[in-house]
Amino acid sequence: MTEELKYLSGFGSEFSSEDPRCPNSLPAKQNNPQQCPYGLYAEQLSGTAFTAPRLENRRTWFYRIRPSVGHYPFKTYQKGNIRHDWNTKHPDPNQMRWDPFDLPTSPTDFVEGINTICGAGDPKNKHGLAIYNYCCNSNMKNMAFYNADGDFLIVPQLGELKLKTEYGRLTIKPNEICVIQQGMRFSVDIIEPSRGYILEVFGQHFTLPDLGPIGANGLANPRDFLTPTAYYEDLDEDYEIIAKYQGNLFSCIQDHSPFDVVAWYGNYVPFKYDLNNFMVINSVSFDHCDPSIFTVLTCQSEKKGTAIADFVIFPPRWSVQENTFRPPYYHRNCMSEFMGLIYGEYEAKKRSFSSWRRHFT
Ligand SMILES: [Fe+2]
Repeated sequence: MTEELKYLSGFGSEFSSEDPRCPNSLPAKQNNPQQCPYGLYAEQLSGTAFTAPRLENRRTWFYRIRPSVGHYPFKTYQKGNIRHDWNTKHPDPNQMRWDPFDLPTSPTDFVEGINTICGAGDPKNKHGLAIYNYCCNSNMKNMAFYNADGDFLIVPQLGELKLKTEYGRLTIKPNEICVIQQGMRFSVDIIEPSRGYILEVFGQHFTLPDLGPIGANGLANPRDFLTPTAYYEDLDEDYEIIAKYQGNLFSCIQDHSPFDVVAWYGNYVPFKYDLNNFMVINSVSFDHCDPSIFTVLTCQSEKKGTAIADFVIFPPRWSVQENTFRPPYYHRNCMSEFMGLIYGEYEAKKRSFSSWRRHFT
């Protein structure tokens, strides 16, 4: 029987969680006592500069069995196909589309199965984004991955993913998404051969869009974002830690599981979201709203109101405008668009859009 996982509900909240096997494992009153309960090690993970304004400041305190710093040196990791070499390629202004990517025929785990599709900017300057697909058919056994460059927004298209993180476990299935932010260690197990999309943003984190005149509710509601609850494993076994750092992959060995966090608290967390919970807002008179009305999450640049990337969905909805030319929207847009199908048929072009498309409009 599949264990039902527990989650904490909310977006941007201050959460706290203890593995129920170790009650009172969160230290009371202070972050870093000389002696933590159960002899745990206190460790802070920062998601913003220490001095970031309070509203943007993100950090979490872990209470773990062994310190993360205990590992052998990192070396170049040879596998995988994560590349940030778009600045060395000649650009192509044409619209492009792809058929669904083939599932691997030889054993391939989630990290090995990540392929770079496109990108812009530079992780070294902490500005820009990358878009990948993943196709995998095996588990990350005794292996963990973390991204020092930015945040991963993972969108499964085929197959449920079972993620282990330092914060606990979470599962995501097609039509759910999850965000694993910079520095958070995680591993991915699968149930069947799996495929999906990843959006990576450098330098900033995803937030919920402002709602303006829509009001206090609507689009993706904060309560529907779910964060895992603490779950530790105490394993003295070799683990391979793979790091994405300045666009390159590195790996090191450590002699214990990195998923040994017994308790944690903070506001820098991984989260998942079921796209079925998105409250769609649409025109009820004439004309289409701009597609930004379908924004689930946004990653804002330092230019006010302008995103590094918006994650937008076209979910099932009534589209009942009068005296309005049918969808799709015809526009020319200063922003690049990358589209991927999760399920169903895309309303604009049904043919040859079975799973993948990128277009520039
Ligand atoms: Fe468009």
